[in-house]
Amino acid sequence: MIIDINVGSEECKDTGGRDIQTFLDEWIAVKVREKEKREREPQEARPARYVRLRPRGYPLRDISRTTPLSITDERLFEIYAKEQWLGATVAKGDILFDQRLIPDYAFEVVKVLPRGEVTITEDTRIYVEKPEPERKPVAKVTFSDIIGHEDVKRKCRIIMKYLLDPKRFGEWAPKNVLFYGPPGTGKTMTAKALANETQAKLFLIRATDLIGEYVGDGSKRIHELYLAAKEASPSVVFIDELDAIGLDRSYQSIRGDVSEVVNALLTELEGIHENIGVVTIAATNNPTLLDRALRSRFEEEIPFQLPTEKERYEILRHYAAKLPIPVEADLREFAKRTPNFSGRDLKDKLLKVALHRAILEDSPAIKKEHLEYALRRIPAMPEPKELYV
Ligand SMILES: Nc1ncnc2c1ncn2[C@@H]1O[C@H](COP(=O)(O)OP(=O)(O)OP(=O)(O)O)[C@@H](O)[C@H]1O
Ligand SMILES: [Mg+2]
Repeated sequence: MIIDINVGSEECKDTGGRDIQTFLDEWIAVKVREKEKREREPQEARPARYVRLRPRGYPLRDISRTTPLSITDERLFEIYAKEQWLGATVAKGDILFDQRLIPDYAFEVVKVLPRGEVTITEDTRIYVEKPEPERKPVAKVTFSDIIGHEDVKRKCRIIMKYLLDPKRFGEWAPKNVLFYGPPGTGKTMTAKALANETQAKLFLIRATDLIGEYVGDGSKRIHELYLAAKEASPSVVFIDELDAIGLDRSYQSIRGDVSEVVNALLTELEGIHENIGVVTIAATNNPTLLDRALRSRFEEEIPFQLPTEKERYEILRHYAAKLPIPVEADLREFAKRTPNFSGRDLKDKLLKVALHRAILEDSPAIKKEHLEYALRRIPAMPEPKELYV
């Protein structure tokens, strides 16, 4: 039996809040009883190792404004949650209501381990999903926006083929790929293009975001990350700025939490947990500084070179066409005069500064003198060769 309540209906408006609450309590009680009657597994529910909750908000519309819920201290929440739901038997899809701090706030059980029906015990890990900060819409970059980097694009096409049909590759799947090269050469941009060109989910995170406040947080976060990636597979985990955590031990004062993150990451990259349909791409400015064990887990290292003169010209032309006012200058000349500039330098230090100068002068176009002005303000670019091997 399903009792359908429509809070917005005329009847409900007339009854006032209290009656709606009573009605709702009854409805929930009916649902619970109904559930209990459902065929259960003959054996007892097993103790839960892990329960993942998704904040669902309040059942009534007018107070739903307080969502999304943000939990500032995950550990404290876990203790709190266990205290009130200790002994509760749950399965995926069930709803748990908070009874105390934020009464009637609902949490949906989205995952339990072991699978099936489980009982929350003292040893259960309870995790609340965050309100999806990583899922911000990715700027619509595509491969056609990336100038040069033909090898990179070729390798990305293989990854795309794998993501479309993981089974076809078996044990020969592309798994862990390292992008390396000087800053501003398009590593992050390429990862975003890859996500936009496939139906695969992209989990884009900075390595430093993996370090938690407490020892144990980091490895938990990595494990969570890969659980989510596996659930969403086919998917790409992009770990940006890997050197921030993966520095060779001789370069870092060993912080317990950092090496713990590296170890957890090694476990995932090693494939001890089977991550079918999950590709990890990490980016770094300098692979030679990386922890050796970590570096060796990447089957492929893809270099991102600084653009050649021809590519610099194409990058300038590409972005000049997107500027709000036209460029009336010979961009070939400026491509020639900008050796060792990255794509980012060309865009942000040359074109953007010239644009701002032109706007300040109320000029209808960007002229040679504006580009000259921008160039003068940039210190000579160092030769990066020996740094980025
Ligand atoms: N080859 C390129 N083609 C087109 N645009 C480029 C290219 N390289 C860089 N850019 C521009 O420069 C911006 C910065 O690039 P991106 O952030 O991808 O660099 P990165 O290699 O990740 O740098 P970092 O190592 O500092 O993280 C891009 O968003 C893009 O606008
Ligand atoms: Mg980057």
